[in-house]
Amino acid sequence: MLEVHPIFQTPIFVCELNGITDACDLEPYIRKCCSDTPGKFEHGMVVQSRYDLNRDEKLAPLCREIFEIARSIAQNVYRYSPNYVVEITSMWGNIQKPGCFFPAHIHHNNVFSGVFYLNDDDGFPPVTFWRPTETMLDPKKQEYNVFNQGSFRRPVKKDTLIMFPAWLNHSVDINTTARDRVGISFNLMLRGEYYNTRM
Ligand SMILES: [Fe+2]
Repeated sequence: MLEVHPIFQTPIFVCELNGITDACDLEPYIRKCCSDTPGKFEHGMVVQSRYDLNRDEKLAPLCREIFEIARSIAQNVYRYSPNYVVEITSMWGNIQKPGCFFPAHIHHNNVFSGVFYLNDDDGFPPVTFWRPTETMLDPKKQEYNVFNQGSFRRPVKKDTLIMFPAWLNHSVDINTTARDRVGISFNLMLRGEYYNTRM
């Protein structure tokens, strides 16, 4: 008998917040926020807004959902102390124009990160999460599973919220459609006592 223990796991979290984009009229608002920062945040890849959209009343309903989900993740999934206070440290709009992509990156100095999608298209690229580098070897696989897969893709739909550990590398391929792919990204910190320090 061979015992197999999947000892360390990396969760990502997906939640449908159906109707919130249209109810709050978020897509035109985010487009406006992004157009308010012409050039400044254009990297040839995406157009981004300022990073404090969590202060805007327009985003309050979405932020309330995010707070609730983050508290549930911290307490019920990670089983962290219930004393932590969830803080949105930054929130910004992204317009991924046709031909543009997000290179692989992580979100430093936070516990969780996430993205909320304001529109969809069958041709939009999914967000891809990348396994942390554990080995230099890359054996041939017969089929992919949680032990050998190097990446995980999640297709995007309007009104979908995806949250993940902030350290998890992720990217988005080139937008090959003729439409802008519009979303809101954010970072979360758990404020409170940590071992030997307070954050
Ligand atoms: Fe990101």
